[in-house]
Amino acid sequence: MGGLFDLTGDTALITGGSTGLGRQMARSLAMAGAQVAILSRRRDAVIQAAEALTQETGRTTVPVVGDVTEGGQIERAVGEVLAHFGKIDILVNNAGVNIREPIERIRDEHWRQIWHTNVTGVMICCRAVVPHMRRAGYGRIINIGSALSLVGLAERTGYAASKGAVLQITRTLAVELAREGITVNCICPGPFATEINRLVLEDPAKSADLLAHVPMGRWGRLDEIEAPVVFLASRAAGYVTGVCLSVDGGWTAA
Ligand code: NAI
Repeated sequence: MGGLFDLTGDTALITGGSTGLGRQMARSLAMAGAQVAILSRRRDAVIQAAEALTQETGRTTVPVVGDVTEGGQIERAVGEVLAHFGKIDILVNNAGVNIREPIERIRDEHWRQIWHTNVTGVMICCRAVVPHMRRAGYGRIINIGSALSLVGLAERTGYAASKGAVLQITRTLAVELAREGITVNCICPGPFATEINRLVLEDPAKSADLLAHVPMGRWGRLDEIEAPVVFLASRAAGYVTGVCLSVDGGWTAA
């Protein structure tokens, strides 16, 4: 990808970037020319993923260790990325968890884990990165919501509530930062066959139930997340802020 969507000279930080959609987005931003850092909790996993991405893309991917629920760790990780690249132009808040439970069986610690990761984690990462974007007068923040930012689904109370909140964080920060050269947008994926959906993927009935919501009737292919993230990360998307870009096979149109 080049031309309109060329990211040469830009630097990107992707949370949860060592697996699934995060890894794919890290790959696509690097292929579009960006210098990329991926953040994950496990040192060995993030180093390994960064090495593999470096091989695949021909660009050095920098691994940083951190838990998005821990403000101190994220400040330190952001400091490391800045020490390496000197700036962060693009922040992809991708780290997330899903625990499916009917209302009577929701465990407090699961609720807290979902909320801390999916909501507080996005706030913590924005809080750490925005001052640097403000100083630069430029930034692209891309939050990863979900189709469940927009519609409900049984047994996902915590997850859907958290992803609804991600969309509201997106809109609020889009307004707050609109005059700073910083755009804030949300990608809302439908079902992709990643680790977060392992329990559904292992159960054909659950899998069929989920796909019944999707007019296209299929899982998203990982490469189908690439163009949306590169577009929102690009200078070409300069007048696009506060939006939800659904990548969901038509789920939320139905
Ligand atoms: P995944 O399970 O492979 O990725 C989640 C990543 O977040 C993992 O790398 C995990 O280690 C990381 N993570 C979790 N808690 C963290 C923490 N406290 N600190 C740092 N990293 C942490 O699954 P996937 O699908 O790649 O998920 C990526 C994002 O996409 C998530 O926000 C998820 O909610 C969202 N999403 C995924 C959909 C799907 O069908 N796969 C659909 C809609 C949204």
